[in-house]
Amino acid sequence: MIYFDNAATSFYKPEIVRYELNHSINKFTANPGRSGHKYSVKTAEIIYETREKVKQFFHAYDYEVVFTKNCTESLNLAIFGILNKGDHVIATIYEHNSVLRPLEFLKSKGVEVSIIDCDMSEVPNLIEQEIKPNTKLIITTSVSNVTGELCDIDRVGKICKKYNILYLVDGAQASGHIDINLNELNIDMYTFSGHKGLLSITGVGGLIVKNTVKLRPLIFGGTGTESANLNQPITIPEGFEAGTIPTIPIISLKAGIEFLSKNFKNLIKIEEKLTKYLYFSLKNLKFIKIYSKPNSKNIALINIEGMDSSLVANLLDEKYNICVRAGLHCAPLIHKHLGTEKEGAVRISLDFNNTEQEIDKLIYALSKISEM
Ligand code: ALA
Repeated sequence: MIYFDNAATSFYKPEIVRYELNHSINKFTANPGRSGHKYSVKTAEIIYETREKVKQFFHAYDYEVVFTKNCTESLNLAIFGILNKGDHVIATIYEHNSVLRPLEFLKSKGVEVSIIDCDMSEVPNLIEQEIKPNTKLIITTSVSNVTGELCDIDRVGKICKKYNILYLVDGAQASGHIDINLNELNIDMYTFSGHKGLLSITGVGGLIVKNTVKLRPLIFGGTGTESANLNQPITIPEGFEAGTIPTIPIISLKAGIEFLSKNFKNLIKIEEKLTKYLYFSLKNLKFIKIYSKPNSKNIALINIEGMDSSLVANLLDEKYNICVRAGLHCAPLIHKHLGTEKEGAVRISLDFNNTEQEIDKLIYALSKISEM
């Protein structure tokens, strides 16, 4: 099998992640932060260690880490935790439905929403032009899950600082593929998912939030703290992680981050080299339309002229055992911008486990499909 769907979920987990999973299932199954017995404490300790690892990995020293079940929940927590009726929020057409749908809902509750429609390079300028006195939050992705384009989060962060506006970055696609240094960027809230670039199993994501941000919880319930208080505690992280947390996925995240930390620069270089090779190989195919740009982060977005993207993806899967993702990738507005909202497009998303030989096989398969 050839796996080019890493933007959805990374398929190959490192040996250390698989080892930790096998090991943890026997060792860390007690409930952390609840009962006081030694097994509960032991689990709480490894969760604490994971929070510290996350902070180190993202250079997030004035921040707290809230674990969630995925990046969607993290984005919902940040968006619903900040915005109130009368506030204005700015986002872009590059956002995923996990940003666009909460904002559409909040529109009906009296929140003013501006969605910037432009090429990625224009995003900072247009955001600045859109700012109003009631702008409370700016949201951008760090890397588009559709085109792999990078947003200039450094510049957007500086604009947010200048106007004293909170900045939320969707790091679903950037995490584990780019070295994000939160201490050098003016980002107030950064979200990640564990199961993509950070190489954990599914079931864990997170919100890294600056100590100064005042958030409202998204989920209300037991925290293992202040149990006599019927109001939700708002201490971070406990107040924002009501209910039993996904211990085993969190431990696998720790292992994924440990693996990446040992060799991160080198892994990034491998991915850059493979992406270059992918674009070099695709550009010679006359029947392929390429929508994304060669400096993309691990992604190529293509179509075979005249063929529906889902058909191409199905043929790649069934005839050649190659996994890609077709359609709209839960990000309809960027597809509209590219003119692919009807047929969708085929997304090839790689990671450091892929090889040039696999790319050659993909090119061969695309050539054969185009002749059908
Ligand atoms: N958001 C994920 C993707 O882009 C699932 O495929």
